[in-house]
Amino acid sequence: MHNKKIALITGGSRGLGKEMALELAKAGNDIVITYNSSPDLAQDVVEQIHAIGGRAAAIQINLELPQSIAAFIEELLATLQERFGNNRIDFLVNNAGMGATIPFEKATEADFDRFMNVHLKSVFFLTQQLLPHIHDGGSIIQISSSTTSFCVYGYSIYASMKGAVEVFTRYLAKDLGPRGIRVNVVAPGPVETDFNNAAIRNNPDRKQLMANMAAFGRVGQADDIAGVITFLCSPNSKWITGQRIAVSGGINL
Ligand SMILES: NC(=O)c1ccc[n+]([C@@H]2O[C@H](COP(=O)([O-])OP(=O)(O)OC[C@H]3O[C@@H](n4cnc5c(N)ncnc54)[C@H](OP(=O)(O)O)[C@@H]3O)[C@@H](O)[C@H]2O)c1
Repeated sequence: MHNKKIALITGGSRGLGKEMALELAKAGNDIVITYNSSPDLAQDVVEQIHAIGGRAAAIQINLELPQSIAAFIEELLATLQERFGNNRIDFLVNNAGMGATIPFEKATEADFDRFMNVHLKSVFFLTQQLLPHIHDGGSIIQISSSTTSFCVYGYSIYASMKGAVEVFTRYLAKDLGPRGIRVNVVAPGPVETDFNNAAIRNNPDRKQLMANMAAFGRVGQADDIAGVITFLCSPNSKWITGQRIAVSGGINL
C-alpha cells in the first residue's frame, strides 16, 4: 500500500491546470486531470507525468452540464481504484473555466447560464459530491480571478461567478474545518494562456497594458501560479483556510 497523496485538477489539459498538474506530480503526488474538448492534450500531460516517474490519469467532463457530475464521480472512483489502488483524493483544484468578452448590454441568458454552470454551479456540486471521497486533512482550492477586485470591460458575468465562488469558499472552509480540510481561493492576475481566445498572447497592446498594471511589469505565466497550488497542497499551508490569495505580480497596488 503506497501513501502518495492524490490531486484532482479540473481543466488540466492546458494552461494553468496543466502546469499545476506537472508541479504537483513533481512534488510527489498522484494526479487526475479532467479535460473537456482536448483529449490529446490531456493525454500528453499524462505522458509527461509518466515520463518523470509519476502516475496520472485523465477523465473527460463538460462542466457546462452539472448533471454529468454523478457519472464523472463514478468514473473517477473506478480510475482511483484501478490506477492507484485507492478510493479517495486528498486535493481538489477547481480550475477549469473559460473567458469571453461580453458587454453587459449584449449578455444573453444563454451566456449567463454557460458561465454560471462552469464557474459556479459545477464548482459547487462537484465539491459537494466529492466530499465523501476526500480524505480528512485534505485541501480544496478554487481558482478565481483578479477581476473580482477590479473591473475589466466585458467580464461582468464571469467576475460575478468568480465572486460567488469566493464567498462559497469561506462558507465551505467553515463547514469543513472540523474535518481539517482547508479551502482557499487563488486569484490569478492576467496570465498568458489560451484563455478568452488567447486574448493576452494575441493582443500585444492589451498585454502591455496589463503588464503595466503589475508591480513586476509583466503579465503572468502558468508557472507563476502553479507553485502556489503546490504550497496549498502541502503541510506548509496547514494553518491557512478560508483565504483569498492574489497571485498577480502585484496588480493594481
Ligand atoms: N489566464 C488568465 O489570465 C486567468 C486569470 C485569472 C483566472 N483564470 C482562471 O484560471 C482557470 C484556468 O484558465 P486558463 O488560463 O488555464 O485557461 P485555458 O488555457 O483556456 O484552459 C482552460 C481549461 O479548462 C477546461 N475547460 C474549459 N471549458 C470547460 C468546460 N466547459 N468543461 C470542462 N472543462 C473546461 C479546458 O479543457 P479542454 O482544453 O479539454 O477543453 C482547459 O483544460 C480558469 O478558471 C480561469 O477563469 C485565468
